[in-house]
Amino acid sequence: MSATHTLSWSDELLLGDARTDHTHQEFVDLVNATTAAASDQKLPVYQQLLAHTVEHFAQEERWMAACGIQPDFCHFGQHTSVLQVMQEVERRALNGEMAYIDSMIEALVEWFPGHANSMDAGLVSYLQEKGYDTATETFKEGAVVDSAALPSCGHAPDQPCA
Ligand SMILES: [Fe+2]
Ligand SMILES: [Fe+2]
Repeated sequence: MSATHTLSWSDELLLGDARTDHTHQEFVDLVNATTAAASDQKLPVYQQLLAHTVEHFAQEERWMAACGIQPDFCHFGQHTSVLQVMQEVERRALNGEMAYIDSMIEALVEWFPGHANSMDAGLVSYLQEKGYDTATETFKEGAVVDSAALPSCGHAPDQPCA
């Protein structure tokens, strides 16, 4: 198994929100399972990864929406771009162009740690600051909900998203 096609779970990927960390650990496991799969199993395992990623992103987007973050915030856009490419890779693999799955996995291995440590980490601290409980998807009692400041996604407010 090539290192460029696998992710290792480590404390560096822990963001301190149990639900986020659990989802991210499942994502890492599914990336590695796709790489490890025998060629006749690669597409179905990749499809599990894709279905999981749809849910993973939808979960974070639900939390952002609950906190009043507008849909043009860059975190939404990055999810959309990744899913579009992943869906295109599924379409090609269904046509027999299986090599795209390997390239997609390589790209996800490259992309995920940076996304987790910038946008997702920013989201987790924003949710904690706002008193939003991801386990129950409700605000803790006494939480003040306002959308005055956006969570940080790792760049200056006047700079475009990476
Ligand atoms: Fe995430
Ligand atoms: Fe995210």
